[in-house]
Amino acid sequence: MFRIAHMSDVHLDGVPKPSLQQLLSKRVIGYINWRGNRAQAMTTDHLDRLVADIKAQAPDHIAVTGDLTNIALPGEFENARDWLQTLGASNQVSVIPGNHDAYVPGAGKLYRRLWAPWMSDDRRPESENAHFPYLRRLDRVALIGVSTAIATPPFMATGRIGRKQMSDLRNLLQQTGDENLFRIVLIHHPPKMDNYRRTFRRLTDGRRLRAAIRRTGAELILHGHDHIAATTALEGPGGPVPVIGVPAASHLPAAGPGSGGYALHDIERTDDGYALTVTRRGFDPAGTIVQTEKTGFSLPLPATGQDGSS
Ligand SMILES: [Fe+2]
Ligand SMILES: [Fe+2]
Repeated sequence: MFRIAHMSDVHLDGVPKPSLQQLLSKRVIGYINWRGNRAQAMTTDHLDRLVADIKAQAPDHIAVTGDLTNIALPGEFENARDWLQTLGASNQVSVIPGNHDAYVPGAGKLYRRLWAPWMSDDRRPESENAHFPYLRRLDRVALIGVSTAIATPPFMATGRIGRKQMSDLRNLLQQTGDENLFRIVLIHHPPKMDNYRRTFRRLTDGRRLRAAIRRTGAELILHGHDHIAATTALEGPGGPVPVIGVPAASHLPAAGPGSGGYALHDIERTDDGYALTVTRRGFDPAGTIVQTEKTGFSLPLPATGQDGSS
């Protein structure tokens, strides 16, 4: 069995006081929002407890799907790098960026360099900067890290994969599917959130992603961004592909799906495919970490799911 823990939207506190120059951008809105809202709703104390609970479950790997920072200040990227070092070694933890990590133009340069060890690609071991999509092979799992992080105008939190990355992603899914690996796509934005109501927070090329998954398949898609626990699915060639969203890891205990939490994914090879068990754990309203959900999925082998051929 291979066990992967998934957490997201860490939004580490301790935002360094920005200079006036740094605030002359979209950051001024984010800073006011953080001071008035997030700084109270999210705490590192609770995050530390959640991380201790994750480690107690002895996962083989931990995935963090973006929004480690709040307004993408240089000091926040350094804080996040220090936090990643405490979370685990670079071969035990995989990270992708979220829209908050690309809050202003140019921020991408910083996380690509500072977080590179946790975003490394097996195909480019010498690279000093992260590239997307990246591929990490772990046992029979292919972990594919996608970036939807783009700088957007004020009040927008949209994401975009882009044509080049989408084309590379399609090829990667095809190749790793041909090897019958269990393909996990890490993506910050939910792949289905592109209806009109969500215009300002959606993945703008979500339709292309869904078309790619319909054609090549994937065994599991993990996302954050919405700050709530959500289980949906995308259409794949061999049946539905589970899409699992987790709440913000640093959110305070609360009633409902927004309470701080994470998910564990237990993957086992079966005679004709894979068995996936998803266990959610998080804070109950009283602040105790409990199991909140357990769901099983049975998935066909990727190569037999495509056009009925093996
Ligand atoms: Fe977030
Ligand atoms: Fe986000």
